[in-house]
Amino acid sequence: MLRTALAAVLAAAVILPATMATAGPIEDRKAIMKGNGRDTKMGGDMLKGVTPFDAATATKILANYAAAAKAFPAHFPATSKTGGETEASPAIWTMTADWKIATDKFQKDTAAAAAMTVTDAASFGKAFGMVTANCKSCHEGFRIKKG
Ligand code: HEC
Repeated sequence: MLRTALAAVLAAAVILPATMATAGPIEDRKAIMKGNGRDTKMGGDMLKGVTPFDAATATKILANYAAAAKAFPAHFPATSKTGGETEASPAIWTMTADWKIATDKFQKDTAAAAAMTVTDAASFGKAFGMVTANCKSCHEGFRIKKG
């Protein structure tokens, strides 16, 4: 019974990104990043002790990051440089080698973090830190924050 319910939840989680893919590349990449934002808030709250540490949630957060990093680079076609209130920097399309280094590193670090076994705040903190170092460095080079 529980197993069936879980399978249904997992299936829904898998279907969701595919459905969002119809919205357009800017909306899609923003949605991926919004997910990163939510997961980072949730993970940060656990590490700060605002919410109790939960290994299953921590593991899910790390899996989400890896999936996000994998999906993200496909949503930057040349037709999506402007519009949709995008905060994507033009550098993504001019400094393509650097952009690839940044997205590759995000994929590598999130995959490594997702492969780690997190059992407590200390082990989660290590994996979380490895991932979140990417947020700031990539945003500095490739995101122009509006407002
Ligand atoms: C490889 C580069 C890269 C990495 C790594 C990265 N981001 Fe982003 N992020 C971007 C870009 C580019 C945008 C702007 C997208 C747009 O507006 O089209 C963005 C936008 C965002 C937004 C705003 C989304 C919105 O509402 O429009 C949030 C929140 C965000 N990132 C959080 C994170 C967090 C948290 C991490 C780390 C876990 C992270 N990002 C890692 C490149 C990156």
